[in-house]
Amino acid sequence: MCGKQINKSQKQLVEYYDLLADDYNSRWVNFVDNQYKVIKPFAEKVHSNFGTGARIADLGCGVGLNSFILTEHFKYDFNVSCVDVSKEMIKHAQQNSPKAKFYNNCFLEWEPEEKFHGLVAGSFLNQFDSSMAPYVVEKMSDILEKGGYGLVYSSNTADYDDDKKIKQKKDQTKPYVQMIDRLNMTNLLSQFFKVEEYYKGYGKRGWTITIVRKE
Ligand SMILES: C[S@@+](CC[C@H](N)C(=O)[O-])C[C@H]1O[C@@H](n2cnc3c(N)ncnc32)[C@H](O)[C@@H]1O
Repeated sequence: MCGKQINKSQKQLVEYYDLLADDYNSRWVNFVDNQYKVIKPFAEKVHSNFGTGARIADLGCGVGLNSFILTEHFKYDFNVSCVDVSKEMIKHAQQNSPKAKFYNNCFLEWEPEEKFHGLVAGSFLNQFDSSMAPYVVEKMSDILEKGGYGLVYSSNTADYDDDKKIKQKKDQTKPYVQMIDRLNMTNLLSQFFKVEEYYKGYGKRGWTITIVRKE
């Protein structure tokens, strides 16, 4: 199932993110303050419905920005499980967010032992071709408990910085992101979830940030 993603085979995708991992790791701390504001409404909902120790999955965790915030910035003892297809991203995330658990898998092949009370899919859905996106959202719903929440966001403006960096290292120029506008994202998420809340991001780029709930 984890085949082609955004013009890349899975092997190319892993190579791409492995190459970007050190760069992501040199910058992630700069995003913590704004990202805390993005995560807070979701974290409060998960905590108020499922209590201390609620289980949260961080999909495509990268170097661990979201798992760091969830495990270190709230007093709710969230149990965070992170999955990422890139081994190099996971290595950094383990250092940055040592209280979380880590799985080096493609999300679509990941079989977690328990369902979650919340999930974060940050800059994640846009990693998949639109033909695959419904399977990804269906799996997001499958891994959640009934009543569980999802925080789903992705940039809706192009950022080719990553591609430029990769080009310096390797002659590989194809953009890796698929732009997902608010309407498309909401339509897709509504097939599997109740869309509870939409809010704007912080900082320079445009974001679609959505909180969804499994009914
Ligand atoms: C743009 S980064 C986002 C990192 C983090 N979620 C954030 O918001 O800062 C996308 C991450 O998704 C991971 N990824 C892409 N496709 C994946 C898949 N099929 N399964 C698991 N992880 C994947 C990449 O390796 C990369 O670390």
